[in-house]
Amino acid sequence: MIAVDISCGYVDAPVNEGVDMVAEINRMKKEKNAVILAHYYQESAIQDIADFVGDSLALAQWAAKSDAEILVVCGVHFMGETAKILCPNKKVLIPDTNAGCSLADSCKAEDLAAFKKQYPGYKVVSYVNTSAAVKAHTDIVVTSTNARQIVESFPADEKLIFGPDRNLGNYINSITGRNMILWDGACHVHEKFSVEKIVALKKEYPNAQVLAHPECKSAVLALADKVGSTAALLKYALNSDCNEFIVATESGILHEMRKNGNGKTFIPAPPADSTCACNECNYMRLNTLKKLYNTLKYELPEVTVDAEIATKAIKPIEKMLEISAQLGL
Ligand code: 13P
Ligand code: SF4
Repeated sequence: MIAVDISCGYVDAPVNEGVDMVAEINRMKKEKNAVILAHYYQESAIQDIADFVGDSLALAQWAAKSDAEILVVCGVHFMGETAKILCPNKKVLIPDTNAGCSLADSCKAEDLAAFKKQYPGYKVVSYVNTSAAVKAHTDIVVTSTNARQIVESFPADEKLIFGPDRNLGNYINSITGRNMILWDGACHVHEKFSVEKIVALKKEYPNAQVLAHPECKSAVLALADKVGSTAALLKYALNSDCNEFIVATESGILHEMRKNGNGKTFIPAPPADSTCACNECNYMRLNTLKKLYNTLKYELPEVTVDAEIATKAIKPIEKMLEISAQLGL
């Protein structure tokens, strides 16, 4: 392998003129026994070339069962870490290591450790959108697909801390009747959906249903006909008798909705602070087809997780996967 500089977080090598990146990515995947796992928030070109496109739970499940030698995780860094923790002997690559997550960043491991000390006897339920170091301080990991069922799997009087997403935590408290102590974090993308603009869209499309991810603020969730993870919103939209949907989550999901939606209309819910119609995650969108091509070509950058942290972090992740399997999720 040629030595390349990845100090900027990705392989910044030129792609020769005339190279068909799609054909080359497909060729290299086969040659190197690699699979590409992409989140629904990736740009369309990446979703189209991926071997598997899914939500954060599905990406972890796929990584755990894959027999490929190389996993290329097209998503954000915590997704790469989760795959590496589950598959320590595989090479796990991510097109751009700068693809972080504002929600994961809102909870540092040392701060969570100090927070836990204030609540002796409490168990920690962590959203998958956390660093491996935070997962190492966690009793069980959840995603937006299984959070409700996993919280309900604890005895009703179990004392729980939920972090880092206060919106998801509030939502789970409201539908389960629990009173979990919430970490005060949020996703900068889901927090900025505009209630006023969604209400205006509902006037323009009176037959449209509103689909919202539980990372949205409660005022947005109150407008929703369906609240769910990206996978749940997709499934609902495809199976519903309704033909028009206003979608309050990162707009990458609209690609899959439109692709499989039999001509149904999907309208992205707009953010409050800009004139853009769509709300994109700047971290997710750091991954591009060119970076993916270079990642496969140079097998860089690789996701690594400190061995001691990984030994602790795998336990709450595996617990989540076990319960999800029992529930058929
Ligand atoms: P899901 O993929 O679990 O719906 O989560 C959305 C998200 O924000 C991932 O970063
Ligand atoms: Fe993180 Fe929000 Fe981006 Fe998801 S959409 S990766 S929660 S910043």
